[in-house]
Amino acid sequence: MTEMVIDKRRVAESFSRAASSYDQAAEFQRQVGSNLLARLPERFAPQAIIDLGCGTGYFTRALTQRYQQPVMGLDLAEGMLRFANSQSIAESSWVVADAEALPLKTGSQDLIFSSLALQWCPDLLRALTQAAQALRPGGCLAFSTLVEGTLTELQQAWQTVDGFVHVNRFMPLADLQQLLAMAGFGRWHCEVEEHVLRYAQLSGLTQELKALGAHNLNAGRPGGLTGRARLRALTQAYESFRQPAGLPATYQVAQILMFKES
Ligand SMILES: C[S@@+](CC[C@H](N)C(=O)[O-])C[C@H]1O[C@@H](n2cnc3c(N)ncnc32)[C@H](O)[C@@H]1O
Repeated sequence: MTEMVIDKRRVAESFSRAASSYDQAAEFQRQVGSNLLARLPERFAPQAIIDLGCGTGYFTRALTQRYQQPVMGLDLAEGMLRFANSQSIAESSWVVADAEALPLKTGSQDLIFSSLALQWCPDLLRALTQAAQALRPGGCLAFSTLVEGTLTELQQAWQTVDGFVHVNRFMPLADLQQLLAMAGFGRWHCEVEEHVLRYAQLSGLTQELKALGAHNLNAGRPGGLTGRARLRALTQAYESFRQPAGLPATYQVAQILMFKES
């Protein structure tokens, strides 16, 4: 299995700092979460609902609207929750929480929705088993996450510049599927969507990642500032991927529905 070394304090700080810029940069994230929402069974009528890694609360609000129930937003980043609270109606509640240590009663939830958050968990199996425990029989964990092949152009470009890990590591699909099978759910379904975003310049991508708070926080990233020469070398290396429509940035998104046995 791919080793994940992520400092959660840095993750929380980085996302908290990005809270006010996130929504303007998050078009792709909205698309992925909307696709996940659309995958939920039509006849499913959950009452106790969690949006795990809710960020600015966009999908917390969407879930409230769809199911006409109050939804609880959980996130590691307090700054994100403060922002989400300022954007939302009083019915939602917001709790600082780690997906790997959920403060939820056993068998208390019908739906745990989580879009593009669980790739930040160093121990995904722990997060999955926590979710399984919090769900009632028949309950659903619906989550999207990123797998290997994501931001591969950026990773390859950096590799030619200095050989360091500048891009977050994403789990191979086979490893993810192995964890899904081990997590204690009765049945599950996983499908991968490829999204290729296009940018006129590399700075468009790097500024977007910064605005989202989605910097590389893996161990093995080099310290210090990105020098001008290195940035020039990176820009040049990335140009080798240019296509008529612009510079591509590929995301491999796993969309997963898991149901606890009734
Ligand atoms: C890319 S944002 C996604 C936000 C929102 N779900 C969306 O789709 O717009 C990832 C969020 O996951 C949160 N997060 C990261 N690790 C987490 C953890 N271990 N437990 C809970 N939330 C976490 C971050 O603080 C951030 O708000």
